[in-house]
Formats: sequence, C-alpha cells, structure tokens
Amino acid sequence: MNNLISMRDLTKEEIMLFMETAAKIEKGELNPNMERKLAALMFYEPSTRTHFSFATAMKKLGGQTITMRGTQNSSVQKGESFADTLQTLAQYADIIVLRTGIEGSARYAAEVVDIPVVNAGDGANQHPTQALLDLYSIIKTQGTLENLNIGVAGDLRFGRTVHSLVYSLSEFNPKFKFISPSFLQMPSYIKDDLVSQNIEFEELQEIDQKIEELDVLYVTRVQRERFADPEEYEKAKSSYILRRSMLAGVKDNFRVMHPLPRVDEISTDVDDTPYAYYFQQAKNGVYTRQAIYAVLLGGLK
Ligand code: CP
Repeated sequence: MNNLISMRDLTKEEIMLFMETAAKIEKGELNPNMERKLAALMFYEPSTRTHFSFATAMKKLGGQTITMRGTQNSSVQKGESFADTLQTLAQYADIIVLRTGIEGSARYAAEVVDIPVVNAGDGANQHPTQALLDLYSIIKTQGTLENLNIGVAGDLRFGRTVHSLVYSLSEFNPKFKFISPSFLQMPSYIKDDLVSQNIEFEELQEIDQKIEELDVLYVTRVQRERFADPEEYEKAKSSYILRRSMLAGVKDNFRVMHPLPRVDEISTDVDDTPYAYYFQQAKNGVYTRQAIYAVLLGGLK
C-alpha cells in the first residue's frame, strides 16, 4: 500500500490491518518508530480534527511535521501551480497529508509525487482517514463491524465522510438507513453500488424514525450553504436535530457518532448520555492516524 486515496481502493484485509494496527498502538503493544520521518500537512481547506490529529499522531511516534494551512502565506499567491507545490514539499517530507476542496486532487497528487499521499478530504468526494477512524470507533463500541444496523443522517449528498464510511462498511454486510431531506439524499452512484452488492438500505426523512433498530447513528451537519431558501433550511434542520428525548427506546449498544464539527444537529443534552461517542471518536483519530503512518511508512516491524 503506497497511498491512501479512497476507501474504494482498500480490500477488507487492508481495512482490518489498519484496525489491528490502531488497536495495538492504543494498547501499547506496537510502538512504530518514526524518529527520522517528516510529514507535510498540506491543508488548502480549514480543519481542526484532521490536521491536529495527524500532527499529534506523528509527534507521538517520534517524528515531525511541517504545515501549510491555506495558501495565504505560500507561493501559491505568486502563481505557483498545485503540481509544483507538491513536488517541492515532496523534496522535504516522507509523506504528504493533503486536504483540498477539489474532487480527485489527492489521486492526482499521488501521480505527481513519489512519496505516499494521504487524502485528508478532497471536496465532496472522499475522506478515507475519517472512515478508518469511524470504523475503529464502531469496532470499539460494537465489538465487530459485521451485520450492523447503521443510520446515516444529514447531508448525504455532499458529505464526503458518509461517502467513505458507506463504502468501507459495505464490506461487512450492513443494513443502512439513510436519513436526509430528499434533495440531500445519498448520490445515485453510491446507491447503485450498494444495489449491485445486495446491500440493504432504506431512505427515511426523520432522524428518530426506526432509531430503536439501530446500532449506530452517524449524524452529519445539514449544510446551510446548500439551501437557496433560508426558510427551507430552517424547516429541514428541525427534522435533523437529535435530542435526548428521542433516545428513550434505543438499544444498550446504541451509539451516536459524528465526524464533527457539530453545529446544532445533536442537541448538547445528548452529550452526557451513555450513547454519545463523538468526542471519543475524535480521540480514536489519533490511534488510527498513527496506524496510517505506520502502514504507509514501514512502521509495522
Ligand atoms: N471530521 C473532520 O474532518 O473534521 P475537521 O474538518 O475539523 O478536520
């Protein structure tokens, strides 16, 4: 494995390698040594969790990071191309972690440079490292990835985290409930893939519909910027706020996950229930990203 660009590129065995490596790192059974390694964190778009957890992961492994956050202080402002910027940072670093707003940019970057590239989010396309930490969080809370009932709620059309998550869970015989307004439904190309793999899914409109059947409810932000009519946004948003009162009939193993940032789609009165898992999920991002460095930079020995 040279790069991590899309969950569609990974076999079930490769996904499980990341899971097992993250678990060993968390338990202290594996300490990959990255003392001589340097990661270039190239973030053309804003980030809190992905940027800081990739930086934290490398530091915990003994390595170092260099960072570009936005283009304001880089020579992109002088007209330097994306390819030349990549080629330059590849002279300094052992691995590039890249976030951009442009779909396909991570795959392009992997063709331009001869060091590993990790896709830290490319537009509305994919966010594979988030999917890996989501899977790791699901294993930790459910004990398995197999045969789970997973609800996915919010902006399913543009949400790259849900696209990557749905692809990766498809290997594990899930039953999906897709909960969104009709104009933010899961894209047809993803639903077609699920149909071709005989994976069960249904599309719902209300966040607490069939909540008692779920093992995991994965909530994402309804994005205000997609709505032409502010009144429509307000109406849609109110169908997608998870409140503590909706959790009365859920299963004991039920967990609420969210890639964060949250705006107001999970009421803060959910935070102190045993079902809220989103901040632990963010912590799991460090173990998972340590595992990603270890797998891509030869740290498993
Ligand atoms: N989950 C996620 O990608 O968060 P950030 O945008 O803060 O990195």
